[in-house]
Amino acid sequence: MCASLSPQPAPSAAPAAPPPATIGPVADLFSSYVAASAISAAVELGLFDTLADGGTCRADDLRRGGEPVSPWVARALLNALAWAGIVELHTSDPALLVRPGPRFADAYELRGYFYWLVRGNGEVFTYAADLAPDRDEVTYHRDMRAVALSSRLMGNGEVEPLFDRVLAGLEFTRVADLGCGSGGRLVRIMKRNPGVTGVGIDLAPASVELAGQVIAAEGLADRLSVRQGDVHRLTPADDLSDVDVVTCVFMGHDFWPRESCVRVLTNLRIAFPNLRTMLLCDVVRSEDTPGPDTPIFRLGFEAAHALMHTYLPTEAEWGEAFAEAGWTPRAAHHTTAPPGGVLFELVPVAPARAASADVARAATETLSAAR
Ligand SMILES: C[S@@+](CC[C@H](N)C(=O)[O-])C[C@H]1O[C@@H](n2cnc3c(N)ncnc32)[C@H](O)[C@@H]1O
Repeated sequence: MCASLSPQPAPSAAPAAPPPATIGPVADLFSSYVAASAISAAVELGLFDTLADGGTCRADDLRRGGEPVSPWVARALLNALAWAGIVELHTSDPALLVRPGPRFADAYELRGYFYWLVRGNGEVFTYAADLAPDRDEVTYHRDMRAVALSSRLMGNGEVEPLFDRVLAGLEFTRVADLGCGSGGRLVRIMKRNPGVTGVGIDLAPASVELAGQVIAAEGLADRLSVRQGDVHRLTPADDLSDVDVVTCVFMGHDFWPRESCVRVLTNLRIAFPNLRTMLLCDVVRSEDTPGPDTPIFRLGFEAAHALMHTYLPTEAEWGEAFAEAGWTPRAAHHTTAPPGGVLFELVPVAPARAASADVARAATETLSAAR
């Protein structure tokens, strides 16, 4: 063994131990999942609206359907919200006073996305591994009432004002809203356009029931009706014949894959013989690689639909389907809330073409698909 004669470096301080993985960004993902669930619950328990109205709340004020919330549950949910900076807890108050935290305003604005993720689609993610293979036998539940309500919350900030502006430039007397969800859009259109009537169509009984309640509560049942129906298989009917504007928001992706989408879009020209404009708004598939600028909703929306084996088109793919199905885009408006949203203003091709062979074929195919 040969000892080195060169000077030895002075021993340095022992390297700092790396922080344990149990605290830090990955660990925070775990707590974020709990906080996301707490946001969804806080929406339903009325906590968010109380705080947004400028109020404070005590843990024992929380109610679900008139029943008090268990103090342990209240404390656990509030802890998760406090961890996320969404509320501040004043523990010196024996009843645990809750005030908005520094991140409350953002959480309130974005609450619809959390409610959609957790209450509307939670089971899709719970069973992600089971749903991964391309087969049908895995059952999961989506809460369609929550999907309808969360869609309304997501659309209220930007999409609805955009609809207001576009509709203000159109002359119309009767509107049909396809996949009408909560009925909120139709109610808004009725209130802004006193002479207009409308009909909502939705596949989910929970949405139809909710929309019926909303319409009745607004006193609009004399101008608005809602019925259960599959938009993919609409046939000409008395309540559709005078419709001159169709709206369809956050459901167009259900028309896909492409062959089916072209058939549905073509068929709409038959089911609505007096249609002059269709306003179709949906979130399109992003082709960006996820990164630090990935906005809320994108990963959840794309993953949930992948797990449900629902194809999400890009904006360009929508354009191809419109052209093939006889619709001309007059404009495309892009939204940041929801991120990746596009409102297409579409005009049907001339009525002469509506009687042509492609439309007749679509009607036959739609009828046989319905059997
Ligand atoms: C994400 S929600 C959007 C609700 C509403 N359009 C809004 O903007 O708030 C989608 C709605 O489309 C409905 N839907 C899905 N497929 C449908 C179909 N084939 N026919 C009719 N409604 C459908 C769902 O039941 C659900 O209420």
